[in-house]
Amino acid sequence: MTTDLYTVISNKQVAPSIFSMTVKDHLNLPVQPGQFHMLKTLAAEPLLPRPLSINDVENETLTFLYEVKGDGTKNLAALTTGQQLRITGPLGQGFNIDGIVGNARLPKVLLVAGGIGIAPFKYLARSLAKKATVSLAAGFRSNPYAIDDLKEFVDDIKIATEDGSYGVEGRVTLVFNPVDFDVVIACGPTPMMRAVKEMCKQAKVKCILSMEARMACGIGACLGCTIRTTKGMLRVCADGPVFDANEVIFND
Ligand SMILES: Cc1cc2nc3c(=O)[nH]c(=O)nc-3n(C[C@H](O)[C@H](O)[C@H](O)COP(=O)(O)OP(=O)(O)OC[C@H]3O[C@@H](n4cnc5c(N)ncnc54)[C@H](O)[C@@H]3O)c2cc1C
Ligand code: FES
Repeated sequence: MTTDLYTVISNKQVAPSIFSMTVKDHLNLPVQPGQFHMLKTLAAEPLLPRPLSINDVENETLTFLYEVKGDGTKNLAALTTGQQLRITGPLGQGFNIDGIVGNARLPKVLLVAGGIGIAPFKYLARSLAKKATVSLAAGFRSNPYAIDDLKEFVDDIKIATEDGSYGVEGRVTLVFNPVDFDVVIACGPTPMMRAVKEMCKQAKVKCILSMEARMACGIGACLGCTIRTTKGMLRVCADGPVFDANEVIFND
């Protein structure tokens, strides 16, 4: 893990409020899918960097896919080619590819994305391709995004939109049945993660969650990002963000 200045290669809007930013990866540190980086522009405010998952790692570049929510991501969206920003990473425990694939030949892996929860799945799907049969179930409020990026690495894509503008109308949990898979991996809003965990528990299918929490330090020091687990309070930034769903205790 290092902190350094990185140079923006491109930063483009791919959907309403959704941006894809690629930076030159001059350090070339090894990055696991599911790990994240803390990003901060050179603006004085906001003071704290913001966590973003690795969307892709390719040809000495790092790509982040992000939704503009507040000042931190608004500043990121304003960056243009050639500008610099401060990035710390890679951070956290990502997806264990060998653990997901196990001893099975081409196990069936389902990635379940809720909105911007799709961000870590491109690099994950790229890492799983040829080792597993990968399917994607993605849910969006309205227009889907980032789907074309994944087509190269996944065998099957199902989409749900809450307004019915594309794919099945309703929640993403309508478009898959966990019994059809060996492993289900989910990233998205908490109600979706809770529902996916419950569906997998009923179906007795292994489930892995990439959790989110508000973060301050991002390196395990401030305890600001802890979640309840069967092993006690764990830090999303240092012990996760990837957790076995059986460990995660959702608040009622
Ligand atoms: C490990 C990890 C990986 C992440 N990866 C991505 C990613 O790849 N792409 C992406 O778009 N976002 C990602 N996020 C969420 C992202 O960090 C937040 O959206 C961002 O920090 C918001 O900063 P802001 O200054 O723009 O908004 P703020 O002004 O800080 O907040 C604006 C609104 O967003 C909500 N919010 C802020 N942070 C979070 C959070 N962590 N979870 C849920 N709601 C939040 C706030 O409650 C508030 O309503 C990730 C978060 C974590 C913890
Ligand atoms: S953000 Fe400080 S411990 Fe996780």
